[in-house]
Amino acid sequence: MKTLLIEHIRCPLHRYTFSVRQIREWVEQQCEGRVLNLFAGRTKLAVDELRNDLDTTMPADQHLDALAFLREWRGAAFRTILLDPPYAYRKSMELYRGIVCSPFRQLKDAIPACLEPGGIVITFGYHSVVMGRARGFQLEKLAVFSHGGAIHDTLATVERYTPPGIPAVMQNQTILFPLTANYAGERKN
Ligand SMILES: C[S@@+](CC[C@H](N)C(=O)[O-])C[C@H]1O[C@@H](n2cnc3c(N)ncnc32)[C@H](O)[C@@H]1O
Repeated sequence: MKTLLIEHIRCPLHRYTFSVRQIREWVEQQCEGRVLNLFAGRTKLAVDELRNDLDTTMPADQHLDALAFLREWRGAAFRTILLDPPYAYRKSMELYRGIVCSPFRQLKDAIPACLEPGGIVITFGYHSVVMGRARGFQLEKLAVFSHGGAIHDTLATVERYTPPGIPAVMQNQTILFPLTANYAGERKN
C-alpha cells in the first residue's frame, strides 16, 4: 500500500491563480517536460510551455477554445497538461469577461490523445479526482491551498496517465493529512 501526501499551503486567492507566488512556485515544481497550459491566463511560467487562452488579451501562443485546441492538435504529445479553467459558470461571467469553459467532460475525454503515456495532468478547482481511473489516471499528488477566513479552499491534483501496459505509479493509496502542512495551524475566522 502506498501513501498519498497532502500538501497544505496558505496563500491569498486571486482570479488569475498563478499570480499568487506560492501557487506559481508549486505548479512550476510539478511540471514535467513540454507543458500544454490550456487556460494560460496572465502569468508566464518558468517551464517549457505552450500557452493557450481564449481571451485574446492574454499572453498566449494560441487563442482557441480549450476543447477545439485539443481536438485540432496534431503536434507531439505533451508530458504535462495544465488545467486551470474558470471553476464555475458564474465565475466565467463575473471574472473572465464572460468567456466560458468548454464542456468539461468532453475536454477530459480529449486529453489522452494529446498526452504522453506516463505524463501528468495538473488540475486546479474544487475536485480531488479529475481525470480518474476510468480514463487510465492515478492520483499522485493533492495540494490544498487555504485562503483563510470564509473563502473556500482551492484544490490542485497531479494525476499520472498510466494506460494499460504502463505500470501504475500508485495504487491502493492511504491518505495522510496534513503531513506537509507549511503553517502553524492558526485560523483567522
Ligand atoms: C482561472 S483563470 C486562470 C488563468 C491562469 N492559470 C492564471 O493563473 O493566470 C481561467 C482562464 O481561462 C480562460 N478561459 C476561459 N474559458 C476558456 C476556454 N473555453 N478555452 C480557453 N481558455 C478559456 C480565461 O480567459 C482565463 O484566462
